[in-house]
This record gives sequence, structure tokens and C-alpha cells, in this order.
Amino acid sequence: MHALRASVQITTRPADTPPTEAELAELVPGHDAVLCQLTEPMSRMVLEAGAAAGLRLVSQVAVGLDNVDLAACADLGIAVAHTPGVLTDATADLTMALLLAAARRLPEAERYLRAGRWDVWSLDLMAGLELRGAVLGIVGLGRIGQAVAARARGFGMRICYASPRRAPSDVEASLQAEWLPLDTLLARADVISLHVPLSADTHHLLSRARLGSVKDGAILVNTSRGGLIEEATLADALQTGPLAFAALDVFEEEPRVHPSLLDRHDVLLVPHIGSATRATRLRMAQLATDAVLDFAAGRPLQHPAR
Ligand code: GLV
Repeated sequence: MHALRASVQITTRPADTPPTEAELAELVPGHDAVLCQLTEPMSRMVLEAGAAAGLRLVSQVAVGLDNVDLAACADLGIAVAHTPGVLTDATADLTMALLLAAARRLPEAERYLRAGRWDVWSLDLMAGLELRGAVLGIVGLGRIGQAVAARARGFGMRICYASPRRAPSDVEASLQAEWLPLDTLLARADVISLHVPLSADTHHLLSRARLGSVKDGAILVNTSRGGLIEEATLADALQTGPLAFAALDVFEEEPRVHPSLLDRHDVLLVPHIGSATRATRLRMAQLATDAVLDFAAGRPLQHPAR
């Protein structure tokens, strides 16, 4: 805010709750740029209202852009900037934290201890999944998917991935990653981790049918976007198997979590904190601010949406 105030005129919306589309459609017109977060519905209606009164840049403090209608931005000549790269490590770290917690049954083990049920050590107490040799299926081998794969290799996991395009051979070789069709990956992976952006093509990628076709006992981790999973059917998939556990950082209608998940013990739920380290959040804010300042000064954007 200091950097922005020094160079451009700004209007802020101080409320903690996200604006509605209608409120945005009133607020945005008259501004050349909007600096927004993933909670802001930058829909065609909002963008059209903005473009009619000067809007030419949307700078989003996030890498994911599913809340921004990119087609509308293109139609209306509005540039879009986002914050790739700076949150890769933090998000990959949280993915590993969820993966480890699920594999080693941490939520269950902690509940057990706190409930006073631990009276004797035993050989099979809380025995979980050994990561060495287990198969990690990565859906989307982009920046974050690759960072997760590199970490998982350090734990001795075997990596396979599904994505529309095959990764470059040096990436495959360094991660020893095998490219598979999604359905083969789902049938083979002990842990499935989602790293594709949410779009019309990937919405409900893990449909009820696919959730029912994973390997017996599989763990599902999602630090990407909730809409990749048909959330309303997840509890059923866990109840009837073969899916054994879901560790979720993201949800279809944040901050609401589907009620069928809330009292289950085979889910681990955290509130969209993938990039939430202090250093990363500062870097994200910095990049989004830089985009506004670059734009105001007529410089090219460093991270335009593609
Ligand atoms: C967070 O979810 C982001 O897209 O940056």
C-alpha cells in the first residue's frame, strides 16, 4: 500500500468479507487497475462495467485465476497479471505436510492420544503408509507439481503424472516420473495429489466415477482448487471406498466446506493456506503491486496471465 500510494491514486475496500459481484460492478468503474484476490468474483459483468469506465488491468494476488473471467478480459482488452513462481515452494511444502499427515495418520493419532486412549505401545499402533516405494500420482506436472515430485523423491516415493502434454524429457528424467493417462494413474497411485488449475476443462476432474476408481486405500491430497473434485460425492467415496483418506486445503465454495465432510475422521481439512508463509505472502503482495506500478509507468508486465 505504501509503494502504491507513493505513485498512484488508490481506492481501498477495507471490509474483511469479499465483495459481491454487484458491489464490484459499482466499485470498479473509474479505476484503471484493480488489485484483487481469489475471493473477488471478477466476472464478465464486473469487467464489462469496469472496461466501460477505463479498466485496463487486473492484478491478482494469487497464481490461480479461476475467479477472473480471462476470456472476458481478452475480449475487453484488459491485461491480467498474477503471481506465479513465488508461492511454489510454500505450496509444495504444505502438500507434503498434508501427504505426511495423511500417510502417518497424524490427525487420528493426535485425537487418540488427547482422548486418553493411549495405554500401551503396540507394534501395529497407528501403522500407516510407508512413503519409500509408494507411488505418488501427480495430476498436473507444472511448477508446483514438479516441486512436490522433487520433495517426494527425497522420501523415496515413485512418481507418475498425468497431464495433457508430456513433460520435457529432462524434467521426467530428473524426477524419474512416468507419464500416464489419468485413469491409469488413479488406479495405480497410493497418493494422488492435484496440481492443475481450475478451468471448464478440469472442473470435477475427479468426478464421482473417478473417485470410485482409485487404488484401494488411496490418499487424495488437494492444494489446488476445490472445484477439481466433485466435493458433494467425496464423503460417499470415502464411506464406501476404495478412497481411504482426503487431505484438503481447498474447497468448492470457500469458505464453506461441504457439511458431509465436517464430522468425518478420514479427512484432514485446512483453510486454503497453501501459500501461507509470511515470506511468500509478502512476495505475492509485492509482485501484484509491482504489476500495477509497471502498468502505470507503461512498462511491460512481468507476469502476465497466458
Ligand atoms: C492460491 O491459491 C493461489 O492461487 O495463489
